[in-house]
Amino acid sequence: MVYLPREDSYLLKKWVEKLAKGDVLDMGTGTGIQAFAAAPKAKKVIAVDANPEAIEYCKNAVHVFKNIEFRVSDLFSNVPEKFDVIIFNPPYLPESKFDKEIDVTGGKEGWETIERFLKEAKKHLNKNGKILMVFSSLTNPKRVLEIAEKLGYSHNLLEKKHIGFEDLFVYEFFLK
Ligand SMILES: C[S@@+](CC[C@H](N)C(=O)[O-])C[C@H]1O[C@@H](n2cnc3c(N)ncnc32)[C@H](O)[C@@H]1O
Repeated sequence: MVYLPREDSYLLKKWVEKLAKGDVLDMGTGTGIQAFAAAPKAKKVIAVDANPEAIEYCKNAVHVFKNIEFRVSDLFSNVPEKFDVIIFNPPYLPESKFDKEIDVTGGKEGWETIERFLKEAKKHLNKNGKILMVFSSLTNPKRVLEIAEKLGYSHNLLEKKHIGFEDLFVYEFFLK
């Protein structure tokens, strides 16, 4: 099953359209929504997903962009390159409250995939590169920001939006 765009996707997309530039990575691309939003402003976009079905979906999508490459990859396992902007709408919900699908569940607490991602992403950012990421009040934002801080990132809140039973946050992260 491929994750169909929801409120989190549209909120992040708005910032991707504003801030994408240079070499861009769309981590966990799903239907490719962020990759397609970045492509007009980027030199090149690499879009990856651990779910081969998502990559198949994206490769078959009708679009005009010649600068997007789609790959299957578990986080950075198949991504050696460095980027100016890394986009991630991660699976960010805790397992216990919802389900165990990889498109929405980020581990027992919700932030585990984000932690793995932030650890690995450090080696894949160009100088002055940034990460654009969305997550929820259900992810334990305080914990996410502590993890990022410990790994050497500074952060900036771009937008907070209340949706139904949660708040969504879009942050940018930079290496200090
Ligand atoms: C919340 S969806 C976001 C999809 C799309 N980017 C969007 O904004 O609508 C999370 C995506 O991350 C992918 N994903 C989950 N774990 C992953 C991992 N370890 N490596 C790469 N992609 C992963 C899922 O398959 C899913 O497509």
